Amino acid sequence: MCGIVGYTGHREAYPIVIKGLKRLEYRGYDSTGVALLNGGLKVYKKKGRVADLEEFLVGKDLHSHIGIGHTRWATHGEPSDRNAHPHTSNSGKLTMIHNGIIENYAQIKKELLTKGYTFTSDTDTEVLLNFIEDIKENNECNLEEAVRVALKRITGAYCILLLDEADPETIIAARKGSPLVIGVGKGEHFLGSDASPMLEYTKEVVYINDYELAIVRPDELILKNLGNEKITPFVTKLDLKLAAIEKGGYEHFMLKEIFEQPSTILDCLRGRLDASAGMITMSGVQQNIEAFKTAGRIIIVACGTSWHAGLLAEYIIEELCRIPVEVEYASEFRYRNPVINKGDIIIAISQSGETADTLVAINRAKEQGAIIFGIVNVVGSSIARLSNGGAYTHAGPEIGVASTKAFTGQLAVLTMMALKIAKEKGTIADERYTQLLFELESVPEKVEALLKNADAIEAIAEKYKDASDALFLGRGYNFPIALEGALKLKEISYIHAEGYPAAEMKHGPIALVTATLPVVFIATNDTYHEKIISNIQEIKARKGKVIAIITEGDDVIPGLADDVFYVPAADEIIAPILSCVPLQLLSYYMGIARGVDVDKPRNLAKSVTVE
Ligand code: G6P
Repeated sequence: MCGIVGYTGHREAYPIVIKGLKRLEYRGYDSTGVALLNGGLKVYKKKGRVADLEEFLVGKDLHSHIGIGHTRWATHGEPSDRNAHPHTSNSGKLTMIHNGIIENYAQIKKELLTKGYTFTSDTDTEVLLNFIEDIKENNECNLEEAVRVALKRITGAYCILLLDEADPETIIAARKGSPLVIGVGKGEHFLGSDASPMLEYTKEVVYINDYELAIVRPDELILKNLGNEKITPFVTKLDLKLAAIEKGGYEHFMLKEIFEQPSTILDCLRGRLDASAGMITMSGVQQNIEAFKTAGRIIIVACGTSWHAGLLAEYIIEELCRIPVEVEYASEFRYRNPVINKGDIIIAISQSGETADTLVAINRAKEQGAIIFGIVNVVGSSIARLSNGGAYTHAGPEIGVASTKAFTGQLAVLTMMALKIAKEKGTIADERYTQLLFELESVPEKVEALLKNADAIEAIAEKYKDASDALFLGRGYNFPIALEGALKLKEISYIHAEGYPAAEMKHGPIALVTATLPVVFIATNDTYHEKIISNIQEIKARKGKVIAIITEGDDVIPGLADDVFYVPAADEIIAPILSCVPLQLLSYYMGIARGVDVDKPRNLAKSVTVE
């Protein structure tokens, strides 16, 4: 949450900073601001999107070779001009941007108020900045030292970038809990919450770790810990292309990402799955194979869409590997006192690899001796680095706030993992193993085939776009997909939606059924097919409107449902990777029909780095 950009070097800073902010807008878009330094600090900030600030700045003198910028997801204080970052210290000499939450800010603010400090915003950021200024002036130390002292006194999470009017070439940066990447160029450095702002300038980046402080100048990058000891920056090569973060002719990132799935799933399977050879190669799983084979339990921790992938994994792993699985919301797990036994494996699932709750949850579990296995999309992210082993989903950058291709990537990885462990453990028959390998291998072309009928979903969306509520029902492997379908619709169209196990709807949600309630059934051919047909009858008997996602060739449900969408036939373990795609399209087209900015739905952010 909140995107952070910085630049110091020989180029004009403003164009780099503003372009970087546009790329980081998925992290928050309540307000935007930049600070430049040219014969004095210049801070410009505004409520609204990056484009609003850009328009406001047309014609202004923006010349500067150093700059920082911020796009905000509000925590302390409503979205407004005055709460927008950067914030300026009482002396007017320092300015700072921040991603995170300072938990003890109220107490520090009290101290500063008694010293005569005044505040123009409601933010915790302004408090931290003035705290740093106070330390700098009272201890007569330089900014770097003052930042170090202040950071030792605060609790919470932060990534901060600071400019000092007196030092027009230097950005001071530090992180704990919120991500920071520094790009290394020739006579220039770039800073960002992720690497997207620096892609066209450098491929050499340094991922900053928690409790590290960076002193960044055009020709110099000094890294220290909070104990003032120097650390050698570890430079890694970025493997990310500019095209991957552009819309590529699509109207929205979300639509692009939905349509990319045949290739992203293929990228995920590539080099790992060889059905003809009966092989799954996953080095992270292989390295931990004994632990998986003997695991007493697997605990999956995740949030949001990733949690839904975890829930499906529970069904698949228990079925194929016969290992008990628990699926936990990371935000709950981290504050409980969970029982973690020797031999338990924690699987953390996260698109961003930065979700604060998931990060803390696995930290806690690691302290208690658990093995952490990360399933992450963003290469080099915090969760990836903290894990003992893992597997990347290789879905490429996901920019639309609603997760789509990362979800199908997670499902593909989790299914492969389960198959590999089951094979090694001997809990799957050879024939079934081979059959599922071929089924998995055929997923990209099946997704491609169903996407050709996207128009049919668009027509369904048009028909139901005025609904105020919706129910999503599924059984077995399709129950997590019902939850995910409901979440997508809420996020993207603002229609209230609930996902339920189809049979459980008799215990409450059925009371909501009227002639205007769309009920989406995920009813592909599986063990529960006859049962779910009965559930459809129950809804129809009460005049509800039924939209059903069904398998090609189904000749029963079309006679019952108001609208159907066909997906190619697949084994019931594999079918959810197909049946989630029309639900992504449904939410997209409903959102568009209702005039929602689908890539940036209200109040949401993609990378939730606050708890
Ligand atoms: C936010 C995003 C969701 C995502 C969730 C977990 O809520 O809007 O799309 O599923 O965070 O994020 P993660 O990066 O850990 O998968």
